Amino acid sequence: MGILTSGGDCPGLNAAIRSVAKAALNRYGMKVIGIMDGFRGLVENRTVLLDDRAVSGILNLGGTFLGTSRDKPQKMLMGGRKLDMTETAVQNLRKLQIDCLVCLGGGGTQKNALHLHKEGGVNVLTLPKTIDNDVAGTDTSFGFDTAMGIGAEAIDRLHTTATSHHRIIVCEVMGHNAGWLALGAGIAGGADAILIPEIPYDPAVVAEHLLDRRRSGKRFSIIAVAEGAVSRAGAKARAKENDSRKGRKKDRNGDEEQDGVSPVREPMASRLARELQQLTGTEARVTSLGHVQRGGSPSSADRLLCTLLGTRAAELLAAGTYNVMVAARGGRAVPVALEKIAGLRKVVPPDHDWIKSARMVDTCMGDRA
Ligand code: F6P
Repeated sequence: MGILTSGGDCPGLNAAIRSVAKAALNRYGMKVIGIMDGFRGLVENRTVLLDDRAVSGILNLGGTFLGTSRDKPQKMLMGGRKLDMTETAVQNLRKLQIDCLVCLGGGGTQKNALHLHKEGGVNVLTLPKTIDNDVAGTDTSFGFDTAMGIGAEAIDRLHTTATSHHRIIVCEVMGHNAGWLALGAGIAGGADAILIPEIPYDPAVVAEHLLDRRRSGKRFSIIAVAEGAVSRAGAKARAKENDSRKGRKKDRNGDEEQDGVSPVREPMASRLARELQQLTGTEARVTSLGHVQRGGSPSSADRLLCTLLGTRAAELLAAGTYNVMVAARGGRAVPVALEKIAGLRKVVPPDHDWIKSARMVDTCMGDRA
């Protein structure tokens, strides 16, 4: 088997590589080849033979020792041009005599793996990874629990300084299209308002909530905001903009990708903090957690999930079950046809119990519900 990690990294990737490889090597006597830097390493034929020693001692290590990239085989920047490198990827897998390619990644990776299967006849098997928790077909993805814990701890810490200074602190949490991380960390950290992409917010509603708190004697407030959250006015403008920039790879700050390198992103929460300071007359500060949430050691829950999903992956490979994602469902690891979930995104449903519970403990979700 070949194994690669693709898309943004997250805590738990090494634990997942370890569990797939250890079970495949020791239990089933397979040969395991690590592919460097995601699909780019596959196209450029950069590999490393993995034995038991190579995958030992990495359970608790953050990142991915194989390296990762956001490249896709069907549209890869090569010598300044974006080319379809699917055929090269398939040929390289043949040369390496790889019977099945195991891909660890998020939503994009599920699509790329299915593409290799459909266009190149490659046997693939995937595991759901992402701190955003937005992979469809699985209850959760590894990396999410760790990132949520980091977010909650940050919000805890912000509480003490916000209280001392009687300030508003806006804490930006990752999650471009899905609000799971901001919602989970916000509830666990006791944020007073939680703003997620699924519920466009009204700054006046948030400000009113903060003023209510002040009137009741609470002189500080913490807002957990997902990086992809938008105001109601912003949501309309964004829809228009998306129409006019179809096909062009522009960043949310309006900057374009240069030679395959995506632009540096500014925290989006600064604008919200300025607005809230103006509307409430209370001093505001901004903290953007950014990649801190993707770094460091995985939580115990993530290590456990990686081991469960990874060993099940090896078991499925040994049985010749391919073209599936190993999903977490009801505490078990089950195969789900890639065809059914690739291209779908799991966002927070507006009637989700987490949202209901947040509202019931007086957390403002930025709307008038
Ligand atoms: O895919 C996970 C994620 O961390 C998102 O939450 C975030 O928008 C994005 O990756 C950041 O990507 P990059 O590391 O490429 O800046």
